[in-house]
Amino acid sequence: MRVLAFLDGTLANPDAPHIRVDDLGLMRGDGIFETILVVDGKPREQGPHFDRLVRSAAMLDLPTPDRAGFERATQSVLDNWTGGSEMALKWVYTRGVEGGDGTPTAFALGMEISEKVKVQRREGISAITLERGIDDGLAQRAPWLLLGSKSLSYAVNMAAVREAERRGASEVIFTTSDGGVLEGPTSTLIAAYGRTLRTPPAVLGILPGTTQAALFRAAEREGWVVKVEPIQVNELAEADGLFLASSVRKVTRIHTLDGVQLGDSTALLAELSRLYDSEY
Ligand SMILES: Cc1ncc(COP(=O)(O)O)c(C=O)c1O
Repeated sequence: MRVLAFLDGTLANPDAPHIRVDDLGLMRGDGIFETILVVDGKPREQGPHFDRLVRSAAMLDLPTPDRAGFERATQSVLDNWTGGSEMALKWVYTRGVEGGDGTPTAFALGMEISEKVKVQRREGISAITLERGIDDGLAQRAPWLLLGSKSLSYAVNMAAVREAERRGASEVIFTTSDGGVLEGPTSTLIAAYGRTLRTPPAVLGILPGTTQAALFRAAEREGWVVKVEPIQVNELAEADGLFLASSVRKVTRIHTLDGVQLGDSTALLAELSRLYDSEY
């Protein structure tokens, strides 16, 4: 099931066409988005997702998104959802039509969680490291590359996932040109070392994850040490557990990295999942 709403709160048929063929979001991937997990009608981390939408909009020189409008659209989607207990709620915000008056195209779309994600949550994933062609400092030297924005230009991210599938894995950990670890194509990397959780910093040009932030908040409260700091690729093998976190997948365990089976981290995953869920 899917539910579509615009920022004035009106609902529309998600199976009917609504986007003009000259929308710059469609023509050039020129726009931004957020994907929010909704559980039992309650959106998780809605505030941080909106803050990140605003931050991405600023990076792309888009008008500041209308908070009340996105809240109205979200409420309409929630009120009309009759699907499963979980929903992936997407906010989309593009530069609007080519040659237009600059009015953004904006909508909220509620969707079911895919079976693939549910299986990965249960069974974990096999990942490979792939280089991303960026180094420490590039995000600051070249802000026009929009590193760390949640832009609609995800063709490279999706190509990386296909490359992983060609190599018999299902996910990717992007690496820097100088031996550092970045993030997944649609997720944040979290590494556990004893009672310490580590994740690479957004300053490297990666997206600050709302799921990682929620998990770190909860973990810190229960006495874990949490560190947002660079991680070298050669440190991954020494971790007690490696996880990819994102709103829809939640915290997912990596069981195999670059073809090498990792130690069993199912108990650790159960603990991190409990911590993450304890935030709600
Ligand atoms: C590139 C990238 N990094 C990290 C994340 C995780 O962010 P969040 O936990 O806020 O969903 C995402 C989410 O889809 C992403 O696309």
